[in-house]
Amino acid sequence: MCGIIGYTGPRKTTSVLLEGLRRLEYRGYDSAGIAVGGGDYGGRPLGIVKQVGKIAALKAAMPADLEGSWGIGHTRWATHGGVTQANAHPHTGGAGKIAVVHNGIIENHHALKSMLEKKGYAFVSETDSEVIPHLIAEYYKGDLLEAVVAAIQNLEGTYGIAVVHADEPGRIVGARNGSPLVVGVGAGEMFLASDVTAMVAYTDKVVYLNDGEIVDIRRDHYDILDREERKVDKRVDQITWELGSIEKGEFTCHMEKEIFEQPESIARALSGRLDLENATAKLGGLNLERRRLSSIGRVKVIAAGTSWHAGLVGSQLLEQVARIPAQSEMASEVRYRNPVVEKDSLWFTVSQSGETADSLYAMREIQRKGATVLGICNVVGSTIARESDGGIYVHSGPEIAVASTKAFTSQLAAFYLFTLLMARMRDMSREEGLKFLAELQAVPAMVGEVLKRRDLIQTIAKKYCGAKDFLFLGRGMLYPIALEGALKLKEISYIHAEGCSAGEMKHGPIALVSPEVPSVFLVSDDYLRAKTISNMREIKARGGPIIAVGVEGDAEAAALADDFIPVPKADPRFYPFSMIVPLQLLAYFCAVELGRDVDQPRNLAKSVTVE
Ligand code: AGP
Repeated sequence: MCGIIGYTGPRKTTSVLLEGLRRLEYRGYDSAGIAVGGGDYGGRPLGIVKQVGKIAALKAAMPADLEGSWGIGHTRWATHGGVTQANAHPHTGGAGKIAVVHNGIIENHHALKSMLEKKGYAFVSETDSEVIPHLIAEYYKGDLLEAVVAAIQNLEGTYGIAVVHADEPGRIVGARNGSPLVVGVGAGEMFLASDVTAMVAYTDKVVYLNDGEIVDIRRDHYDILDREERKVDKRVDQITWELGSIEKGEFTCHMEKEIFEQPESIARALSGRLDLENATAKLGGLNLERRRLSSIGRVKVIAAGTSWHAGLVGSQLLEQVARIPAQSEMASEVRYRNPVVEKDSLWFTVSQSGETADSLYAMREIQRKGATVLGICNVVGSTIARESDGGIYVHSGPEIAVASTKAFTSQLAAFYLFTLLMARMRDMSREEGLKFLAELQAVPAMVGEVLKRRDLIQTIAKKYCGAKDFLFLGRGMLYPIALEGALKLKEISYIHAEGCSAGEMKHGPIALVSPEVPSVFLVSDDYLRAKTISNMREIKARGGPIIAVGVEGDAEAAALADDFIPVPKADPRFYPFSMIVPLQLLAYFCAVELGRDVDQPRNLAKSVTVE
């Protein structure tokens, strides 16, 4: 949510900032801007360009000769104040000498603004962020670090900020409280960004800031201070991503690439974690001893959006296979309802980005109550990954499209591994464990088979993309897949879609059924199949068109449906992997047909770091 980049070094600063912003655009894309120092800006202390719209619009608005030797940039996802040029960052203070980019929300900005206005500071935007440069100006006595340290004592809320002052060439000061910031360490150059994606093209050495930390950056060194202003020595981490993994390659957009990458990304999530000898899973990052694991009485999962859906599948699997009571809840609800934390419970926070504010704050609340919380994260070094008590990295590789696809199937893989581990410590026999492992090993190929249905799904999308509403229906472990299918369609095509339990449909949603409302059914071949088939007949009887995702050879489901998408036959517990893929593709092709911006759908941001 909002992307931040800062650079100081010998490269062309404007190009580095614009390139960094392009890579950060998935965090927000309402408006963007940069501030650079060290050049001639027609009498102005800093060169500042801001523009409504995407980074391409900012690039187009850049004067050809605007250069500098250090600077900061921002791509915005609006919270306070509309999408206007005045509200775009950087915001300035101190007669235009101070520029600030901010990610987060300053909750006491009203009080600060009226205090500053009384002192004569003039505000030009409607944002909460603009109080920051004026506060820094208020405290500035010739040292930017001292002024930032003093200014942030007044701030309530969340922030990740990067600040420059025209009179202090090459210096960038950053501070973090609730919104991520990472320092990129180069040779004779330094970066500061809201995430590593922005600087992976230039350096693979990074230092993650914690809440309360402040960084003082110059081109050849940096100092990190804690809340008490003591210097802290922090580990420099190595990024293992390759630049190619954040490029689109031969695909038209990141979402398409990420959907088609799933056989490999799932294989990566499983890699090195299958213990064929003992018919179990190896999960080294859990940081839990065997005795502690076997004493777990219940599992609770907290997450948001797609990650919550993965948690819903995971919880059902844990109950069904490992016979452990499990529940998945929306993190945004958990935090504020004073949840009961039982002594024998183990909690998971699932998050692709590892930065989602709802999930992070809920996790902290649960930890405060004494619970052990494990993270299931994709982004290495993210806040949830670092603050959780252990966990499982899903290794999907960078997920750039706002709509999550490959991270979801890798999160599922993490739950399947954990379930196997737990089940083998309980009632699951070695033979059953080996069978489960074999099915898990077959998942990447199974997903690869489903991806071959691309043309069929594109034809179906063309046929139905004019619909205003869709229903997605499934039972058991396919109910969360129905929720996820509906979410994907809503997010990127803007078609209204509801995910329902097929059994619950007759208790209300069936009123929506008409020849104009397609229903997408997920039909397993397990004990629930007959019930789902009955639900299909109920829709058919009311003239509703049916698209069914079912098992190859299910003639009855195929005959009942107007359109049928077959997936390979497998152990029904593994259908969540194969049945989500046609729904991802259906959403993708509908969005393409409707001319939507697939990677950056309106109003959304990839990483939601505000509550
Ligand atoms: C998924 O397509 C969405 N963009 C969204 O629901 C997302 O899953 C949610 O915001 C949680 O993000 P996280 O996994 O990074 O925590």
